[in-house]
Amino acid sequence: MKNSDLEAWGARAAAWSASYLDTLGSRPVRPQTRPGEVRESLPAAPPVDGESIESIFTDFENLVVPHVTNWQHPRFFAYFPSNSSPPSVLAEWLTATLAAQCMLWQTSPAGTEMEVHVLDWLRQMTGIGEGWHGVIQTGAGMATLSAILTAREKALDWAGKEQGLAGQKTLRVYTSLHAHSSVEKAVFLSGIGRENLVKIEADETGAMRADALRAAIAEDRAAGYLPCALVAVVGGTGVGYSDRLDEVLPLAREEGLFTHVDAAWAGSALICPEFRGIAKGIEMADSMVMNPHKWLMTNFDCSAHFVKSVDDLQKTMSITPAYLVTQDADGIQDYSQITMELGRRFRALKLWFVIRAYGVAGLQKIIRDHVAWAEQLAERLGAVPGIELTSPVQLGLFSFRLRPEGTEDGEALDRLNAEFLDAVNGDGTIYLTQTVHEGRYIIRVSIGTTATSQDDIDIAFDTITRLAAPYLKTAT
Ligand SMILES: Cc1ncc(COP(=O)(O)O)c(C=O)c1O
Repeated sequence: MKNSDLEAWGARAAAWSASYLDTLGSRPVRPQTRPGEVRESLPAAPPVDGESIESIFTDFENLVVPHVTNWQHPRFFAYFPSNSSPPSVLAEWLTATLAAQCMLWQTSPAGTEMEVHVLDWLRQMTGIGEGWHGVIQTGAGMATLSAILTAREKALDWAGKEQGLAGQKTLRVYTSLHAHSSVEKAVFLSGIGRENLVKIEADETGAMRADALRAAIAEDRAAGYLPCALVAVVGGTGVGYSDRLDEVLPLAREEGLFTHVDAAWAGSALICPEFRGIAKGIEMADSMVMNPHKWLMTNFDCSAHFVKSVDDLQKTMSITPAYLVTQDADGIQDYSQITMELGRRFRALKLWFVIRAYGVAGLQKIIRDHVAWAEQLAERLGAVPGIELTSPVQLGLFSFRLRPEGTEDGEALDRLNAEFLDAVNGDGTIYLTQTVHEGRYIIRVSIGTTATSQDDIDIAFDTITRLAAPYLKTAT
């Protein structure tokens, strides 16, 4: 394939993309693929001679597309969204064309400066306050790991980096009961050890109890541990609960802890001033993460990590062999000095395209619609006899379960809901996922795909009630 062939093939790919996105609504959200089915369709060994793009493209359409889960489907209501948009897709094509490796300012000045600048736009858009420095990570998990490593090193005065953890005081990290598993992962990957993650009990609103946090820190100090970090949550994964940052962040600060806020999903909603209450006090944190690749129309990967002290991050991450020194460029940021990876993609370009193409008002409108539809669908489902809402609507997320009249709570009800969920996802019209909340199996409805419309919400209601009917009848 020659450079000049990109013109015709680019047009073909663009036509395919537009048609795929336009017709997604008529496809099942999740493929009914058997494990191993995709590999069975592929030759065991790679081709010795090059093949035509025509045949590769045909195989893409026939062997790949029918077996992907369609995350951009307007009725994808599973997990949290990982949404995208046409300007983001276009920017990814251009990013791939430039194929710039943005590890240092000099390896791509535009890559670096665009990242600094667009993240400052995002800081302004989300109202998180002044004094933040942004860095785009591959995911919120990476941002949280970076924060925990920084907290570890700060608490040890950077001795861990030099000497390792042996002989150091045992560190302790505190987090919410509703924290994402990536917090636990960061704690064990950083060498602090899973046993040293203290999950603080929550009150009836799902927020971490400040008195319990204070007591846990005091108890740990008395036992000779070294408390080093608090990871608070805004928009937890299970049912969207948030900690009260204005209570726990000042407390953690008084105790000398490094503070990180995981707002991976809900952070995008902060672009709407009316939703900022869930993150009241966020300006006091040392570090926070939100994912434009979840709910800000920017395709994966694009996770915005903001820190107050870029120096702390740099002291934790940096290593500068002679071949990585940027010469004669004072006042520039070499991003590889503050991230775990050396090589970095030009991820800021797609965020720049998205923010400019929609404008802040356009992005706000999409998020406001999602939140309004979640409220509307929850209200309609909650009014159906035999359907019980199991957590309040939090932005674009709520949960429910079937509970036919007169049914005992317990494992049989969990099984009924698991079977019902299989029936929903086997039907293919919508896609929902489950979690366990307060010990019981519940079904989450997460609204956040760019293409979702009011019609899709109506279809979701009809599908859920149609497929629930036999379960409600059988059980009564
Ligand atoms: C609250 C929260 N934190 C972290 C993550 C992990 O995000 P990522 O896949 O960007 O690492 C998720 C994923 O859904 C999440 O919901």
